[in-house]
Parts: sequence; structure tokens; C-alpha cells
Amino acid sequence: MKKIKIALLGLGNVGRGVWNIINENGEEIRKRSGYDVEISKILVRDKDKARGVEVPEEILTTNYSDIVEDKEIKIVVELMGGVNPAKEYMLEAMSKKKHVVTANKMVLATEGEELFEAADREGVMFYYEASVAGGIPIIQGVNESLAANKIEQLYGIVNGTTNYILSKMELEDMDFDDALKEAQEKGYAEADPTSDIEAYDATYKLAIISSLAFGTKIRYEDIYREGITKINSMDIKYAKELGFVIKLLAIAKDVNGELELRVHPTLIPKTHPLANVYDSFNAIFIKGNAVGDLMLYGRGAGDLPTGSAVVGDILSVLRNESNLENYSAIKNNLWERNLKPMSDVNRRYYLRITVKDKPGVLGDITTIFGKNNVSMRSIIQREREADNASLVIITHHTKEGDLMNSVDKIKELDSLESVDNILRIESFNSK
Ligand code: NAP
Ligand code: HSE
Repeated sequence: MKKIKIALLGLGNVGRGVWNIINENGEEIRKRSGYDVEISKILVRDKDKARGVEVPEEILTTNYSDIVEDKEIKIVVELMGGVNPAKEYMLEAMSKKKHVVTANKMVLATEGEELFEAADREGVMFYYEASVAGGIPIIQGVNESLAANKIEQLYGIVNGTTNYILSKMELEDMDFDDALKEAQEKGYAEADPTSDIEAYDATYKLAIISSLAFGTKIRYEDIYREGITKINSMDIKYAKELGFVIKLLAIAKDVNGELELRVHPTLIPKTHPLANVYDSFNAIFIKGNAVGDLMLYGRGAGDLPTGSAVVGDILSVLRNESNLENYSAIKNNLWERNLKPMSDVNRRYYLRITVKDKPGVLGDITTIFGKNNVSMRSIIQREREADNASLVIITHHTKEGDLMNSVDKIKELDSLESVDNILRIESFNSK
């Protein structure tokens, strides 16, 4: 049996999962790859930290030279997170002709081009399946299994932490902070959970997957982004009453050749399959012009699900070792694509506002909507404390620019107390 030495950069949640899978599934890995995979070094910051996994002390190092200068190590698996030094370490590994596997969506979405170019230049393989939706094989799915399709629409629940929080708030009435704490304890959240709750993480993932799906280079900064911190229990209850569930959706659509890309909390009909994706599960719903509707579903975060994708990439490297040519995917044959401005996005909207409960208020609001081409579909009014009322307005399809102009005018009304939330509704049956 051939032996291959690999190194891990990081032994946190994902590193631990990779260690456990390689050690527990050694027999399957040997059968499938023809290699005996040995993790010969692991880079950490603190060798004395308790890690909940039995790793021989002598393979831990705090010095990257021990790995990059070791000619016997053929694959470097980056599981540290962040941009630097992760990027520098991967570039150095490639320059030493080592293949690289990473789970790091932040570095891919922000500095990926440099890494793809280096992999091509050095003739090494560079795989990143775990960077989007944890254990779900979405990168390979889009790159290979769906390659015959023109992808028209893609909707993803691609962040386990926020889906966990929204699930706990909806199903168990849990407080936002308590749900986040649980997600952190379970190893779903990023080292800085702002990345999850403010939807940077989901935006990085949408940039990676939509670049592949639409054959272009999407900059994550060009994607509209809103996190879930403004969602409270009132929104969740109103949504339920109206037949919706609130999910953080990453959305990419080809609308007559223009790309619409956005990540935000979204009201989706509770009958849609994505509405039933709970806990840390992720799902990606794709409409392809040949395959039709397709949904991939699985654990999007956590040590073993993510480790599953990482070890799958390590096996891909081993299988392809004798067939080196073209491994990076976001590179040649890119198409120029225009991005649709958010003001032109056409959706139904949920608007929750608090107003003084007095005659004429509704009339003022409907007049403003009428002047701005916004048509109301339904309205719920609930009495609140003192003389205030809570209004939830659902619009018909309208241009976002028109809705936002109306909201600016509503804000000028004396009767307005607060604009509490504006959410988009996705009905999935229209562009
Ligand atoms: P984590 O638990 O914070 O672990 C990070 C590990 O990297 C730790 O072992 C840490 O060492 C080490 N490390 C960080 N900076 C280092 C440095 N400068 N030098 C040496 N070692 C360093 O992170 P994680 O949750 O495993 O995530 C790792 C990567 O996978 C991230 O890119 C993340 O976005 C991605 N990812 C995570 C998940 C998930 O479910 N958690 C899923 C998919 C992808 P010490 O332990 O000594 O501090
Ligand atoms: N923090 C990420 C999440 C990890 O919650 O989905 C998986 O990429």
C-alpha cells in the first residue's frame, strides 16, 4: 500500500473532524484511494490547548516551516480560517509543489484569484468543496454533474449558524443570543460570529458558487447583503400567520442575461421545500434549463460534516495525482455579466411599522404607496401599548426602488413612530 503524508493547518472544529474521519475511516480511505493517508504534522497556535481529540504531541507544531519545508508532505490542508496568514501559507505550499485543500470561504471570496493562479502556475491541485455548505457536494455538483445546464436560479440556505438561530427562534421561542451561544458551542459559528449573523459568510459562499454556476467572476463586495440581527420574534410570528417562514437566503438569478445577486432574510412560503430546512442543515435549490428543479440538502456546518467534504477533497487529490492538468475552476473562459442594481429588483415585500393609532393614518400611507407605484396586497393591524398600532403590510410585486422611495416618504409622516422591518418575499414561481 502506498503511503502519503499530509499536514493540517489548524486543529479546531474542522481539523478535529478531519483527524477523526481519517483515523476512523482509514480502511475505506485505503480502499477508495489506494493510499494509506498519514497526518504527519498539524500547525496550531497553542500546543498545550485541550482539543477533545487524542493527537500525539510530537506531530503538533507552531512553526509553519516544519510543514512547508518537509518534502515528504504532499498535501497541505488549510483549516485555520481568516485571510492572513492562511493565504500566504497556501501560496508557499503551492510554490513547494504541494497540493492544497481548504475550507476557507473568506480567503476564496476575497483573495481567491491569486490562489487559483498560483495553483495553475505551480501545476498543483487546489480543492475547496467544504467552503460552501459544509458536507453538501455543491462545488462538484455545479462543476461536474450540472455542467450541461444553463443555471437560471439558485437559492441557498448556506449558513448553518443563522439557520440554527432562526430555527430555534421559530420553533422554540428561543432568544437570539441564547441560540447563537448554542450554535457556537456546537462548533457551527465562525471564530468571529459577526461573519455569520451579518451574512458575510453566506455572501462569500454565494460569490464562490455563483462564479461557478454563471461562469463569471463575482466579487463578494458586489453582492447585496443583509444579516439576521434585525429579525425579532414579532417578525417570525407575523410571517407564520401569513403562511411564511423566515430564512437567510443567498439568491442568484439570471434575469434575461443580467445577474441578480443578494443575501438577506427572506419570507418564503411554508410549503416550499426550503422552508422545512431547519437546525444547522443547509440546502441549495437550483433551477437548471435541462435538469429543472433540484435541491441538495445536508449538514452545512460542524466538525464531521465539514470534515467529510475536506477528506473527500483529499481523496480527489490522491485519485487525480497521475492526471495533473487543469484543476482550478474559476479561471478560463469567463463571461462578462452585468449585475442588476438592487433598486431594479422586483419582489413582494413585508413592511412592519409602528404608527400612532388615529384617523387618517392608513389613508396617508396608501396615498404614498399609490404615488410610488406600490400596490398593497394585505395589511394586518394590531394594537400596541399606549396609542400605537403595529401595521404589517404585504405588497404585490414592486420595484425595490419604488418601495424604498415610499418608505422614505412614510418616515416623514407625523403619525409614524418607527419603521421596524422591511423584508423581501420570495415566491419561487417568477423571475
Ligand atoms: P476554529 O475552530 O477556530 O479552528 C482554527 C484552528 O486554526 C485552531 O486550531 C487554531 O489554533 C488554528 N489557527 C488559527 N490561526 C492560526 C495561526 N495564525 N497559526 C497557527 N494556527 C492557527 O475554526 P473552524 O471552525 O475549525 O474553521 C476552520 C475553517 O473552516 C474556517 O475557514 C471556517 O470558515 C471553515 N469552515 C468551518 C466550518 C464549521 O462548521 N466550523 C464549516 C465549513 C468551513 P489553536 O487551536 O491553537 O488556537
Ligand atoms: N460558520 C459557518 C456556518 C460554517 O455556520 O455555516 C460553515 O461554513
